[in-house]
Amino acid sequence: MDKKEELKRRQADIEAMGGPSRVERQHQMGKWSARERIQYLLDANTFEEIGAHVTHRGTRFGMDAVQAPADGVVTGFGRIEGRPVYIFAQDFTVLGGSLGEMHAAKIQRVQDLALKSGVPIIGLNDSGGARIQEGVDALNGYGEIFKRNTWASGVIPQITVIMGPSAGGAVYSPALTDVIIMVRHTAQMFITGPQVIQAVTGETVSAEDLGGADTHLKRSGVAHLAVDSDAEALDGVRRVLSFLPQNWMEEPPVVKSRDPLERIDETLARVVPDDANKPYDVAGIIGSILDEGDFFPLQKGYADNLVVGLGRIGGHPVGIVANQPRVLAGTLDINASDKLARFVRFADAFNIPIVTLVDTPGYLPGTSQEYGGIIRHGAKVLYAYAEATVPKVTLILRKAYGGAYLAMCSRSLGADLVLAWPTAEIAVMGPDGAANIIFRREIEGSDNPAETKAAKAEEYRQQFANPYVAAGHGYIDAVIEPEKTRGHLAQALMALYNKQDHRPKRHHGNIPV
Ligand code: HXC
Repeated sequence: MDKKEELKRRQADIEAMGGPSRVERQHQMGKWSARERIQYLLDANTFEEIGAHVTHRGTRFGMDAVQAPADGVVTGFGRIEGRPVYIFAQDFTVLGGSLGEMHAAKIQRVQDLALKSGVPIIGLNDSGGARIQEGVDALNGYGEIFKRNTWASGVIPQITVIMGPSAGGAVYSPALTDVIIMVRHTAQMFITGPQVIQAVTGETVSAEDLGGADTHLKRSGVAHLAVDSDAEALDGVRRVLSFLPQNWMEEPPVVKSRDPLERIDETLARVVPDDANKPYDVAGIIGSILDEGDFFPLQKGYADNLVVGLGRIGGHPVGIVANQPRVLAGTLDINASDKLARFVRFADAFNIPIVTLVDTPGYLPGTSQEYGGIIRHGAKVLYAYAEATVPKVTLILRKAYGGAYLAMCSRSLGADLVLAWPTAEIAVMGPDGAANIIFRREIEGSDNPAETKAAKAEEYRQQFANPYVAAGHGYIDAVIEPEKTRGHLAQALMALYNKQDHRPKRHHGNIPV
């Protein structure tokens, strides 16, 4: 056969992947094929495939007679918004996208190239897991991938989309990456599936309830985004990457913004209620601060007493961390601590400055919190903020009490600048609790304990329920008018743009995981 003809025939076979009927089945499930996903995600005509001719070397269980185009995973590189990315996309139409020795080797190859080139890597996962016919060679393949995920962590962005099954140890490569996006109803992640759970514990659970997108977004905290379609998931990848540099040595991409930096927002003067116990939605403040009000929340639905996400001020990416007074009064608990610490480390790894908005009465009390290890999880927050070297600006909106005041990027923990609204209250604890302790004798000995308690709490509030004691001692750098918040934050971030900060040399820290 003519050599050119042979190449064409081979290419056609590879491009057909599992064949029309399996592709059709994929479509019926609401899923695209690997090639369709890549085509949608990357800039038009930029995909360069590598390893297309790689195929498995299995001989057991009749595998020697099995054709597996591209060995079930499409790998290569291309561009997103003009910037290079490496990509692998598992194709469920070939042996269920299962991962054998050579399939794994192809993924490792793009991981290696991405890491040495300082370019983000995107994984589109749709796989039945370890290729059962290949046994230990498949397991070894996973191990090699996990190792590379770990080495690449904090060096290049690693983004995962789960677009089909991800079972057993296969979940751990995604879990080692920076962001996981899951598609509702088609993506499921679990270590042991419904049948195994039924057999071992007797529990009955559907695959979607066990490991679907909403389960991992809202209950386990494994996923960062849950979406309704392949297209929406891939749009999410583009959006995440728009905030990230190519690697840790570069600055995040800057876009042009028409939103004036000094924009004044009168509504901010009224957002904090007079009654300190009344909640409000911090989302309004976040929207007001950011360019065009455009906020990209991560893990929304999980530990909603804390909000984290990305946006821009003056076109420069910023990471936002904010207590949410509307949920659990904005207290810090185990899940919020995990969410916060991971986000701060993610932002710091990729040179994204962090703006922290504080309104928290403290840590959530309760035996479940103490037994669950709030000490260990809460310590992660302190560690993450103190370790971070990016510009850190803190704005105290209202309550900043006790340990939570310290934890929410206080001056002592390493904030570069701390601003406060006039409504800020910085104290060891809330006025009622404080009065109960330091004025206990007066309250118990009085004719009207309730009245005395209220009076003493008010006395304490007068002393500490304002930003001026903390500002007087230098813990707050400026008390600002709320309506001018965006301008003040923009100025602060600009002034810190070239900040250099160094930590002692060491092998690596020992974060309380
Ligand atoms: C080989 C596999 C496979 C696998 C699926 N296929 N999973 N081949 N190894 N792990 C093949 C099927 O034989 C079938 O081939 C095709 O892919 C499509 O699979 P179906 O079962 O027809 O699809 P569906 O009904 O949609 O079910 C999808 C599924 C199911 C839920 C993923 O296939 C399944 O349960 N697979 C096994 C999952 C699993 O237990 N994997 C091992 C996990 S342990 P044909 O030729 O008929 O089209 C693991 C350890 C990793 O991964 C450890 C790392 C540390």
